[in-house]
Amino acid sequence: MDEAKLTEFMGRLVGDLGGAAMTASVVLGEQVGLYRAMADGQPVTADELAGRTGCNARLVREWLNAQTASGYVEHTDGSYRLPEEQAMALAVEDSPVYVAGGARVLASLFIDMDKEVEAIRGDGAVPWGAHHPSMFTGTEKFFRPGYKANLVPSWLPALDGVVPKLEAGGKVADVGCGHGASTIIMAEAFPASRFFGFDFHGPSIETARERAAEAGVSDRVTFQQAAAKDYGEGDFDLVSFFDCLHDMGDPVGAARHALEALAPEGTVLLVEPYAGDHLEDNLTPVGRMFYAASTFVCTPNSLSQEVGLALGAQAGEAQLRDVFTEAGFSRFRRATETPFNLILEART
Ligand SMILES: C[S@@+](CC[C@H](N)C(=O)[O-])C[C@H]1O[C@@H](n2cnc3c(N)ncnc32)[C@H](O)[C@@H]1O
Repeated sequence: MDEAKLTEFMGRLVGDLGGAAMTASVVLGEQVGLYRAMADGQPVTADELAGRTGCNARLVREWLNAQTASGYVEHTDGSYRLPEEQAMALAVEDSPVYVAGGARVLASLFIDMDKEVEAIRGDGAVPWGAHHPSMFTGTEKFFRPGYKANLVPSWLPALDGVVPKLEAGGKVADVGCGHGASTIIMAEAFPASRFFGFDFHGPSIETARERAAEAGVSDRVTFQQAAAKDYGEGDFDLVSFFDCLHDMGDPVGAARHALEALAPEGTVLLVEPYAGDHLEDNLTPVGRMFYAASTFVCTPNSLSQEVGLALGAQAGEAQLRDVFTEAGFSRFRRATETPFNLILEART
């Protein structure tokens, strides 16, 4: 045994365990408003922060010490400060790098551990709806900042001829829409178009309707509970799948249904987690997070449905191309990408 290798590995492992504990600390800080109460970047004592947030002062001090040990917060002379850069990621909900809300997804991996243990010892299936609600709000909070930053300025313009259609008044289906973050962002940007959000998870559709009302876009957005192979509307200029195709049991069937639902010259926008085609390509910080989450969420969800293709969250462009080719699409290309997402375009 190589002592140096062991020491190096233990160092990394302790770092990972600390990171997992900090995920819980981030969820707590986000939930009770501790980060938001420090967003001004001014020094604050634990007692002052506890007073501002109505929290227990001793636990706030312990939380602040953990935040300081992680480099999230700075500590000088008994006062703590959230630097501007950290505030962007942890306190400012509209910032493109806001991740604090998304930590709830990772928290729910622990909350749902009993279901995962049963699945891994059995048929591998955990349906989306079986997860703790933290999964659904966490997913919305995790993905929304990226959609807000990229969808209208960059992803839609990267598609061939789609923006002029939406400006003139097009028809859009957002399949597997969850809480409707992507649907609502598109509806806000293109008031002349009509948007239909479909998801098989009833509670998510109810939340999506509330979000549309809050955003004032209910006049042009309809959310319906429907599976990806079952929705009834058609003649869509754009059918989008945001981070959901790989979760489906039968992605080929979903793509085939999209093909039938498209208007002539319509386009599919496929947004998937960033991945290369081989495991070796994905041995990155982003890849390991996606593989780990996919073991608990995406892959068991696919295995709970018909066909159970189980692409996983690191499917990669080549496998996704195969799905669309098998479904009958003749054109498929990478329109653009971000460090977190592949943005793919499929056409007839
Ligand atoms: C990771 S979430 C993404 C939600 C949303 N698109 C977003 O980006 O925030 C995956 C979504 O796919 C939905 N889903 C999974 N399988 C589905 C199916 N067969 N038909 C319709 N929706 C499905 C789930 O209910 C869930 O809302």
